[in-house]
Amino acid sequence: MAWDRRTQATAAWDNTDPRPRWPGSSDPRPPRPGTGDPRPPAAWDLGWGRGLRGDGKEVGRVAILQINNIMAIEIEKPSVSLSKIALSETHGEDSPYFAGWKAYDENPYDELNNPSGVIQMGLAENQVSFDLLEQYLEQHSELAANSGRSSTSSFRENALFQDYHGLQSFRKAMASFMEQIRGGRAKFDPDRIVITAGATAANELLTFILADPGDALLIPTPYYPGFDRDLRWRTGVNIIPVHCQSSNNFEITPEALEAAYNEAESKNIKVKALLITNPSNPLGATIKRSNLKKILEFVTRKNIHLISDEIYSGSSFSCDEFVSISQILAEQNYKDSERVHVVYSLSKDLGLPGFRVGTIYSYNDDVVRTARRMSSFTLISSQTQQLLASMLSDKRFTENYIRVNRERLKKRYEMIIDGLRNAGIACLNGNAGLFCWVNLSSLLLEPTMECELELWKLILYEVRLNISPGSSCHCLEPGWFRVCFANMSENTLEIALRRIHDFMDRMRKVKISLQ
Ligand SMILES: Cc1ncc(COP(=O)(O)O)c(C=O)c1O
Repeated sequence: MAWDRRTQATAAWDNTDPRPRWPGSSDPRPPRPGTGDPRPPAAWDLGWGRGLRGDGKEVGRVAILQINNIMAIEIEKPSVSLSKIALSETHGEDSPYFAGWKAYDENPYDELNNPSGVIQMGLAENQVSFDLLEQYLEQHSELAANSGRSSTSSFRENALFQDYHGLQSFRKAMASFMEQIRGGRAKFDPDRIVITAGATAANELLTFILADPGDALLIPTPYYPGFDRDLRWRTGVNIIPVHCQSSNNFEITPEALEAAYNEAESKNIKVKALLITNPSNPLGATIKRSNLKKILEFVTRKNIHLISDEIYSGSSFSCDEFVSISQILAEQNYKDSERVHVVYSLSKDLGLPGFRVGTIYSYNDDVVRTARRMSSFTLISSQTQQLLASMLSDKRFTENYIRVNRERLKKRYEMIIDGLRNAGIACLNGNAGLFCWVNLSSLLLEPTMECELELWKLILYEVRLNISPGSSCHCLEPGWFRVCFANMSENTLEIALRRIHDFMDRMRKVKISLQ
């Protein structure tokens, strides 16, 4: 216990913080008083304690610096409290899905400067057709310079426009792009297009509109890890997983839907919606027409909403292999369509995640109205809308882009599947997306999630590939991984495949030596 004249307080060491830091600094060393010398004095100690005022009242946590037996006490200001949402752990960003990105950031692969670095295969980014966008902008330099118009009046318009309906020209272009992707088999009314800053905002916004805190959404597994953050964190809504299995290629069945619904009921949780991702992230596969019909029957029977996240709709390798829920509705004359809402974004098909361009297309007038009001919190800049309105209205460009992008993604997919097969690794049959769903369960010491994470770490730190473990997608069966292939050059993909091949050879030798 020591008395300090400066703070008029006594303090006792209690080692509440094992890593002493000088207040306001991350440096554990105190500055040497008076001299400007950064080295610590001969005899010093620094720690944390509880301070007591002369009247015995606690003054909070204090930093205690002892130099040559003289004690100085610095009172730490009590921290200002934050909201429950801010402190909540439901953002899910401590999962291996995000941890792998960090490991990549710390040691990123670069062909010339860091050839032994980590190759990022955990990021669903589409860079295979970026040259087509660049080429278009080069040929239409007025777009890049002035976002669609050449006069200063367009600058003025963009700078002042802030109507949350969005630009009519942009909504028209977006609706027509969505129709094109679906081969004209579904129609979209521009007046039902609500613009949002990406599919992230669209999904959260819909959750706010369809469910109250404590209610639940059903989501088939494996699912995009970001949903934990996007749908739960700020809304207070629960996710009840619909567990799908490898035995039927992770297809969504009425039995699995019913089981999840019953689980929610047994916990007294109200289910408000089912969210499907079609084509699926992480499966890289489209949902069959017959299954879509069963899904519609299920939501109608339970009288709940259906959100169809179709962010990868333009990334199915062939237009015919993707069936949108909008097509099914059109074929059924829009019967029961007011419970259906489609989410879309340009982050994947056009490879523009940085532009933050998403949309909600709802068949429910009340949802459209409310979503439009709420979209004030998450709009797209007028300049971006202007630029994309021009680009997406150019039918020659979009037709060519959609066709070439599909061909290139298919080629990449075949390249990775062949490479993995040569290394003795099996994958789920895919037909869409920027990733494949890979079965590495034969490499697990035991079929547990702990062993899956051990294998993930080995691949991340030894093979230096960041892939996403199935457990981060809530897959119940250990040993599945999502591997992305469209965010790198073909050369880098070849190097990644070579690393996997060598790793599998090493694993086989270890297995033989253990037998
Ligand atoms: C299924 C799914 N939905 C939504 C998103 C978020 O997309 P955006 O960048 O448009 O917010 C992603 C991104 O990976 C996704 O895979």
